[in-house]
Amino acid sequence: MSTDHGRVINFGAGPSALPLSVLEEAQTGLVNFAGTGMGIAEISHRSKEFQAFLDGFERDIRTQLDVPPTHRILFTQGGGTGQFSAVVLNLLARYKLLRPQASAEDTVLDYVVTGSWSKKAAEEARRLGGSTVRTVVDARVYSKDGKAFDNIPPHAEFAFSADPALIYYCENETVDGVEFAHDAQSPAAFPFHLLPQNTLVPLIADYSSSFMCRPIPRLADHAVIYAGAQKNIGPAGLTVLIVREDCIVDVDAAAKLGAAPVPLILSYKTLADSGSLYNTPSVLAIYMAGLVVKRMKENGGLPYYEEVNRRKANKLYAAVHEGEQKGVFRRKVQQGSESWMNAVFEVLGEGAEKKFLDGAEKEGMKGLKGHRSVGGVRVSLYNAVTEQEVDKLIAYMARFLAESASVEAAA
Ligand SMILES: Cc1ncc(COP(=O)(O)O)c(C=O)c1O
Repeated sequence: MSTDHGRVINFGAGPSALPLSVLEEAQTGLVNFAGTGMGIAEISHRSKEFQAFLDGFERDIRTQLDVPPTHRILFTQGGGTGQFSAVVLNLLARYKLLRPQASAEDTVLDYVVTGSWSKKAAEEARRLGGSTVRTVVDARVYSKDGKAFDNIPPHAEFAFSADPALIYYCENETVDGVEFAHDAQSPAAFPFHLLPQNTLVPLIADYSSSFMCRPIPRLADHAVIYAGAQKNIGPAGLTVLIVREDCIVDVDAAAKLGAAPVPLILSYKTLADSGSLYNTPSVLAIYMAGLVVKRMKENGGLPYYEEVNRRKANKLYAAVHEGEQKGVFRRKVQQGSESWMNAVFEVLGEGAEKKFLDGAEKEGMKGLKGHRSVGGVRVSLYNAVTEQEVDKLIAYMARFLAESASVEAAA
């Protein structure tokens, strides 16, 4: 029978909570994987048992996200940061093959900057050189204080280039708590209608902190979607890629035409040609993420998680809103641009934030401190955080509000 093993509620932003049932199942696999008599961290990645597991993992992602046959699912390492470089190198190679005469000046990379992670990705593209990196829009310009990432900018401000080598956005900004809305009618939805009208738009999305929390809008219109596993689906060490076939290019042929040489391990073609087994993959991380997506399927797949995650986010933001009206909390993100996965807010008053965090910790709720660069409180609501756990936090927030009111009344 399952016990709680003395575990606390983990609202951390990543690495983050994993389902207890998966951790328990993984304990068995760590000792004896699939009846082989060897643990998952001990068995060859070329064994038929591991291959069968990998195939099932891929299938579970493909069916749940409804990935079309035009797109490959690839597994690699290096995290989101690895992909900041890999997407640039692979897409520059693709562009060189399409437009061999284009100079670095004419090779334009469009970055939509809505938070710390897309800003970092753009910086890496600039560092790699060989192209002209454009900021399509910088959300700080539209923020309340002119400095913070607190919004998805108005659609009228998105000016994409006519023929870019890539267009990049981060669907959910984990640090700042800003996310594109999934309702196509929302002003905070990604403006797919403004993209250049070529048939194969090189649209790249970083889904690291929102992967498999709900369906991906317009998935088939993306060239590359990537996600580090360590938020919603597994331990660190695994990166999942969904890559449209036309972005899997011969990087060596491109290099002969003058594109930057691409390290083999970053080349999408290397990964695709080897079935993601060119070198030793992160076997253990794949195993645990595989168990998570299998469990997701058994629970009803993405429609189930979308519903639960919607409820979790709605009730949490309602609690923050209530605290805002009482002058105790302050939302950091503008209405409509709030993330479902990472809710950020401030606790107002001298020492109040520390009091809030310490009190939560005493009640077994950890990982609530905001990212060091922005401060405040951050509540990460990934799939493995249950609705009951969110209810417990909300009850604590209500008590905190009541206490703040009585202290004020006594003063
Ligand atoms: C949205 C997003 N992109 C990229 C990264 C960087 O990922 P990694 O630490 O796996 O390199 C993170 C990490 O938290 C993230 O949240």
